[in-house]
Amino acid sequence: MDQHATDLLTRAAQSEEEAELDADARTWLDLRAGVASVWSRYTDLVVERGQGSWIETIHGHRYLDYTSGIGVTSTGHAHPRVSAAIADQAAQIIHAQQNILYHKPGLKLHELLPRRFPSLPEGESARLFLSNSGAEAIEAAVKLAKAATRRPVIVAFRGGFHGRTHGTMALTSSGIRIRGHFEPLPGSVHHVPYPYRLRNPTGRSAEAALAFTLSSLDELFATMVYPDDVAAFLVEPILGEGGYVVPPDGFLPALREIADRHGILLIVDEVQAGYGRTGRFFASEWTGVTPDIVVMAKGIASGMPLSGILARGDLLDAFGPGAHGGTYGGNAVACAAAVATLEVIDEEGLIAAAERQGQRLLGGLRSVTDGRRHVAELRGRGLMVGIEFADTETLAPRPDLAKALLHEAFEHRLLLLTCGTWSQVARIIPPLVTTDDEVDLAVRVIGDALEAIGA
Ligand SMILES: Cc1ncc(COP(=O)(O)O)c(C=O)c1O
Repeated sequence: MDQHATDLLTRAAQSEEEAELDADARTWLDLRAGVASVWSRYTDLVVERGQGSWIETIHGHRYLDYTSGIGVTSTGHAHPRVSAAIADQAAQIIHAQQNILYHKPGLKLHELLPRRFPSLPEGESARLFLSNSGAEAIEAAVKLAKAATRRPVIVAFRGGFHGRTHGTMALTSSGIRIRGHFEPLPGSVHHVPYPYRLRNPTGRSAEAALAFTLSSLDELFATMVYPDDVAAFLVEPILGEGGYVVPPDGFLPALREIADRHGILLIVDEVQAGYGRTGRFFASEWTGVTPDIVVMAKGIASGMPLSGILARGDLLDAFGPGAHGGTYGGNAVACAAAVATLEVIDEEGLIAAAERQGQRLLGGLRSVTDGRRHVAELRGRGLMVGIEFADTETLAPRPDLAKALLHEAFEHRLLLLTCGTWSQVARIIPPLVTTDDEVDLAVRVIGDALEAIGA
């Protein structure tokens, strides 16, 4: 066959392949219409695969994924070690229900995870209960606090996000769309302001923000609730959905002290900030505070649905057998992924990496945000970083700029999210495995995007 004929055949084969790919792609794109519209969407991409910090679409386009599936894929997409653990376990047994059987990866996790309880005093121990989602673990924590104290009230903090189930949406106050139109909500939940320096009505210092929170709590106890009716404080160590707000250092210690004074339990919701993301295994470790109950999900199993609570001492025994549970909690494949995740975090030094890369990211972002008119604050800890857009004089939120930044970044194949009550914060959540080059690339893209949107 002459060269011309070969070329023609090759081209025909190629266009057949392209046509096939297009038809295939068209099918997948069309099928998106069947997905419930309650899922508010960031992109219309259909993904084929992911590796490390990158995802690849069915069109073969690669994107740097600095959403990490909302802070879940901390060990990166499809970490070989985690994927292998999942495959191996799936070949052994997938579902060994907790009421009926014990399974090896579950037992291993019950041995390993309680050792990570934050700032546990020498000689004390902790115990683990496993479930599937963050909201489900919050339900467990709140029920446990009520069972242990026999008190009815939960005090949560304004801007906090704790889930979307019927119970947890009453605890959530990060944005109206979560709970608006669903009244009446489950009762006996009170909210006081989170110490949010930038938006604190009595001044922008850390001291003023903390004082405002504590005086609001005093006021709550003086006007609406006796402290001895309060079962627990429920608090995020760093506000997640509410805007990536790092509280003043004294916040958790002050809550601990008030809780101890009144026999109130301290539940720390580490679902978004925990599991190495801030440069400590749990974010509350930055404060040295020992919580009573720790709630975890997201990064715990690198993307397999798994969540849990760690409870100090014998607290978990306040649940009588059957008082809580669930069909899937502690699924064997999810537990195998969780054990592999812990091994990867330790062996690859991912907690120290998160702190190091977080400093690189914050430093880089500082250089591209400094002096910008509408960047009200750049903040974060470790690989949990937010850029808040607002009018710097009036602090009127500028969600339009956060959205425009996301759009520009997307055009340059960088995936980001927003957060904050008005979606006015660009949220940057790289996986813990991200590299220097990826961080620098993201900073460059964000810098160019800020320029392009005139922020
Ligand atoms: C701090 C926090 N708590 C709880 C939840 C609820 O987790 P899930 O979406 O797995 O129910 C989230 C989810 O974003 C969260 O960020």
